[in-house]
Amino acid sequence: MTRLLKKIIGVICLSLIVLSCNQPNRVEETGNRYEARVDSVLSIMTLEEKIGQLNQYSLGSEFTGPGNKKGQDSIRYQQLISGQVGSVLNLLGAENTLKMQKLVVENTRLGIPLLFAYDVIHGYQTMFPVPLAESASWNLELMEKTAQAAAAESAASGLHWTFAPMIDVTVDARWGRVMEGAGEDPYLQSEIATARINGFQGNDLSHNKTIAATAKHFAGYGYAESGKDYNSVNINNYILHNHILPPFKAASEANAASFMNAFNDINAVPATANQYLLQDILRKKWNYDGVVVSDWNSIGELVNHGVSPDLKNAAKKAISAGSEIDMEGTAYIRNLASLVEEGEIDIAAIDKAVKHVLQLKFELGLFDDPFKYSNSERENEIVGNEMHHDLAEEIAKESIVLLKNERSLLPIKSAKNIAVIGPLAKDKDTPLGNWRAQAVANSAVSLYEGLEQTFPEDVNFEYAEGVELSIGPNNFFQEQVINERDKSGFEEAKALAKKSDLVIMALGETAYMSGEGRSRADIGLPGLQKELLKEIHAVNPNIILVLMNGRPLELSWEDENIPAILEAWHLGQRAGIAIAETLVGQNNPSGKLTMSFPRQVGQIPIYYNHKTTGRPSTAPGQVFYTHHTDVDNSPLYPFGFGLSYSKFDYRQIELSQNSMTEDEEIMATVTIQNTSEVDGQEIVQLYIQDLEAEETPMIKSLKAFQKVEVKAGQTVQVEFSIKKQMLSYYKSNGDLTLEKGDFRVFIGTNSTVEQYKKFELK
Ligand code: BGC
Repeated sequence: MTRLLKKIIGVICLSLIVLSCNQPNRVEETGNRYEARVDSVLSIMTLEEKIGQLNQYSLGSEFTGPGNKKGQDSIRYQQLISGQVGSVLNLLGAENTLKMQKLVVENTRLGIPLLFAYDVIHGYQTMFPVPLAESASWNLELMEKTAQAAAAESAASGLHWTFAPMIDVTVDARWGRVMEGAGEDPYLQSEIATARINGFQGNDLSHNKTIAATAKHFAGYGYAESGKDYNSVNINNYILHNHILPPFKAASEANAASFMNAFNDINAVPATANQYLLQDILRKKWNYDGVVVSDWNSIGELVNHGVSPDLKNAAKKAISAGSEIDMEGTAYIRNLASLVEEGEIDIAAIDKAVKHVLQLKFELGLFDDPFKYSNSERENEIVGNEMHHDLAEEIAKESIVLLKNERSLLPIKSAKNIAVIGPLAKDKDTPLGNWRAQAVANSAVSLYEGLEQTFPEDVNFEYAEGVELSIGPNNFFQEQVINERDKSGFEEAKALAKKSDLVIMALGETAYMSGEGRSRADIGLPGLQKELLKEIHAVNPNIILVLMNGRPLELSWEDENIPAILEAWHLGQRAGIAIAETLVGQNNPSGKLTMSFPRQVGQIPIYYNHKTTGRPSTAPGQVFYTHHTDVDNSPLYPFGFGLSYSKFDYRQIELSQNSMTEDEEIMATVTIQNTSEVDGQEIVQLYIQDLEAEETPMIKSLKAFQKVEVKAGQTVQVEFSIKKQMLSYYKSNGDLTLEKGDFRVFIGTNSTVEQYKKFELK
């Protein structure tokens, strides 16, 4: 048959299937709305076409640009126009995606549309705070909205699918990718995962403002040994089931359209070829029905892991385990056909994977209209619009965490001559953070600009950089070079500090000092910043330290010596306004940390919900208990911690009853009074401790929280209901268990809360 004839037959078959899209069918009533249509498409596909759907490439505009001969001569181009590519990542923009979609729909036999994917992590063009920062807002509604806005911008640029949210629980601030997630707590991470997935996907994936989400990285990536990216993961099954998996279970329940593999091994099996994770847990236990995509060449990396001698074996292991789309690995496109022919793998594994891909394409509405997302007019209207910038400012304000405020230095009241010092003070790029998709470089409002726009006119700001931070490449792909020598700016900065009433110092990490591949062994202020800070402190101790960073830092000296410290992360588009409004008191900080800040790197991993030991600390000075001899057991700033300009007093916890059966609930109530003269918001946290568990429990676990507004002088009552779900845990074999016995409920302002009430599960 000629190619043209094949194409005509293919298109007729596909059209008949697609036309039936609008007919309600039996399958629709039983759950999977597209099963019958997916099966029909599958039934007319050749093996090569099926494998093509599982092949994903990162492609730029080289194939679609005018007369680009080089691109069009390439193997990838030939594969693209012959149905051997099912999805593409990194191709952007309504125009480019439209051209490539046309190329594929018009040239391939069946005209099955491509999926366009991209890492939209904290915004497409409008940058919201990096996810770790956003998580510090504990404001699920706002996080859902930022994901929604990011989805609207992406979808208007022709994208269908984001590789977000990253929901890896992590306890190691040395790992650069902590900036991409929501910190150390599985419950909070699960709640935020759900909010972000709902934000990206809405309740209709075919809507032109929603995109498919990806729960990543499944699983354990956040526990890379010594915080080194891509490193092995050595954890026990209790940690796996109670810390790592719950957010993924939540993502599955929130119908995340896809899951992505992790690069690491876990229990000595790479996640990409991990039957236990992908089959036993994901498919069988959770009944997950979406598609599983590998991470970048993670199938190929099975060879490096030492579990596959070659790419063919890697392909076999990965597809058999349930890794369905091969991102940039070429393992499937090169090997799956021969593996089937040789009887090495069952065609059923391929069919199942292809069905998941087709199902997603149906859900996105691509079989109805493959070009619906690529609309330049909509792109111009939606991408980077003012409303999204307003939203970025709103969440940035809630993401700021006040770490210290001695002598009520903040908010700034009377200072008239203020020195603004530090390499990040006028930086318009750092606040955009890493994983910044299509952010326009240098487009954030800098702190300095924010100060000038926000403060009264009679306040005079003067600036000195003090020290350069980065002297090397500043981009996603290259390692940055940090200034370790040049102190030539110190004197000017000191002279300025000396003559000023107050010093605002903006220090921290540039955007590319955290993120993928950015693990650090020393998480203090990089370069000469601390030295500068010490020298400035010697001439003027009235310092407000504004930190911009993508991970917890080690700040022991700073905490001891600097009177006011504001954690301002990488806050996105309007960072400078959000920070300045906080400094002047127009915004009362309400954020709380979602990762513990260590006193020393040697404490890492440090996290609040660790297990107890047989020898917990009882009093200082004792030798034979769980401790370091040279540093306290506590973190510098604990999980859940953050100050406010308001003062909140917690009264006694009241319980409606002291015992419950599993069918009952106990109401736990606490009264909080704002004893200050400033209206504020407080994040009220409820933790449970199990006193009688069969497996050693965590000392305390967050089970609920509420962010409440309390006006100056007012009192509010916050009520929680304690349900059996809050009292259960996963045993090391993965079974959820609920065990009778005594528990404690703590309600308070952060994870170090001591106030509790005891109750019994009967
Ligand atoms: C990262 C993923 C990301 C992918 C595609 C990988 O290096 O680990 O999180 O989605 O690249 O950009």
